[in-house]
Amino acid sequence: MSKLNVNIDHVATLRQQRLGLYPSVLEAAKVVVASGADGITMHLREDRRHVQDRDVFEVSRKVRTKLNLEMAVYPEIIGIALKVKPEWSTLVPEKRQELTTEGGLDCVKGALKVGRAVEKLKKAGIIVSLFIDPDLKQVRQAKFLGADLIELHTGTYADAKTKAAEDREFFKLRDAAGFASTLKLGINAGHGLNYFNMARMREIKEIEEFSIGHSIISRAVFAGLERAVKEMLKLTR
Ligand code: PXP
Repeated sequence: MSKLNVNIDHVATLRQQRLGLYPSVLEAAKVVVASGADGITMHLREDRRHVQDRDVFEVSRKVRTKLNLEMAVYPEIIGIALKVKPEWSTLVPEKRQELTTEGGLDCVKGALKVGRAVEKLKKAGIIVSLFIDPDLKQVRQAKFLGADLIELHTGTYADAKTKAAEDREFFKLRDAAGFASTLKLGINAGHGLNYFNMARMREIKEIEEFSIGHSIISRAVFAGLERAVKEMLKLTR
């Protein structure tokens, strides 16, 4: 059975719309853990568009779970990770203009920078995962750079517009996971996974944990909207 790690960035996205106090990221982390999830992910972006530094410190101090801090290879953010000391970290590429992470890290071109970041984080006792495309060259390089885990980018699979394109991406993910397991890398996967495209992913038995955010927070709107309206009706009538 694969594990589920829930990315709570978009609770912070909603809060940052008004720069207020709610919805609380800490509360969200507690609910996610109480609901049985195996861990929490927060992406501390350089532009701080959703999760803020204080969220990361607060969740890591007050919520007993496996915290995965996701970050780009920026010295400032790596420095924060070294202070927070999450159980595990995931290095991702980051562009200011993107809506969300657009693809995997290039561990071949960025070998020097990525390798240094892996070394620093591991020295501090933090498990390191590299978010990469399902490409055998990247898998091999992730191992070479000392990563403990890889997270396979499932975004292209999730966005596939035709059955043939979906099949192509699925087979790349399956082959990359198979290869990574022969290298004794831990294997996670995520990005764009939702209530419709998850079933097929479970066929790849090597994937130990899925990292899912946007679809869960989106589903929570409709799982909770009726109750939210009824509670306000009680106050208005
Ligand atoms: N994994 C990584 C590395 C990500 O960057 C993200 C998005 O922040 C996710 C998983 C979760 O993706 P989604 O929000 O589409 O489920």
